[in-house]
Amino acid sequence: MSPFRPNSQPNPLLNPTLSPTLYLQDKPRFNRRSLLTRLASGVLICTSSGAFAEELSKTPTIEEGPYYPTKLPLDTDNDLIIVNDNLTPAIGEVTHLTGRILDAKGEPVRNAVVEIWLVDHKGAYLEMQTRERAAFDPNFQGFGRFLTGLSGEYYFRTIKPVRYPGRNAPHIHFAVKTKGREKWTTQLFVKGFPGNERDCIYRSIGDKKTLALVTKEFVPMKKSRVGELTANFDIVLGYTPEDTHV
Ligand SMILES: [Fe+2]
Repeated sequence: MSPFRPNSQPNPLLNPTLSPTLYLQDKPRFNRRSLLTRLASGVLICTSSGAFAEELSKTPTIEEGPYYPTKLPLDTDNDLIIVNDNLTPAIGEVTHLTGRILDAKGEPVRNAVVEIWLVDHKGAYLEMQTRERAAFDPNFQGFGRFLTGLSGEYYFRTIKPVRYPGRNAPHIHFAVKTKGREKWTTQLFVKGFPGNERDCIYRSIGDKKTLALVTKEFVPMKKSRVGELTANFDIVLGYTPEDTHV
């Protein structure tokens, strides 16, 4: 696999200590207040000591589903569009997917392994190829990983998800692994997709406010000449991993 450097995006450079995971440098830095502004769902609560402390709405846990790959691809980096050193990219709407992993107090979580998996442009999972020999885009990685640094940020280049039989709402599966904790999972949905309300899992998530936490816009990337998209999805865990702070 080769380091991935998207146009008009911060340059993810190969980090030799984290290889083969790619990570971002020179990302815009957010102080905690601006971050809280971005996370409009945040509320203020009064603690027993009388001081105000911020409490963010937790990202809802959503089931892992049956298609986590039992056989991981040889390439598991954060660029799902290019497999190993192939020249042909995956088919689909290229999406630059970013976000931060935050703990229950709104602090960035470092050393979290963020994993995503989703269907190819025709609605097949990598796992369907493994189990059922289903046709699968050979140029799509189908699964990727990212190890967060001090900022808690993650980055993937992938495709915009499409619907597949049994699910009306296109989605990207997420798993977050932190030391000493069970794997935590959720799903990211596409804001405005007409099938969302007909999707059994989507409908079971909760009220509109809760749904908004896992439903994000996929918008055209500025200055992209080839129609790339961006999406941002901050994940607030319902706990504070003990080992994430120096
Ligand atoms: Fe799924």
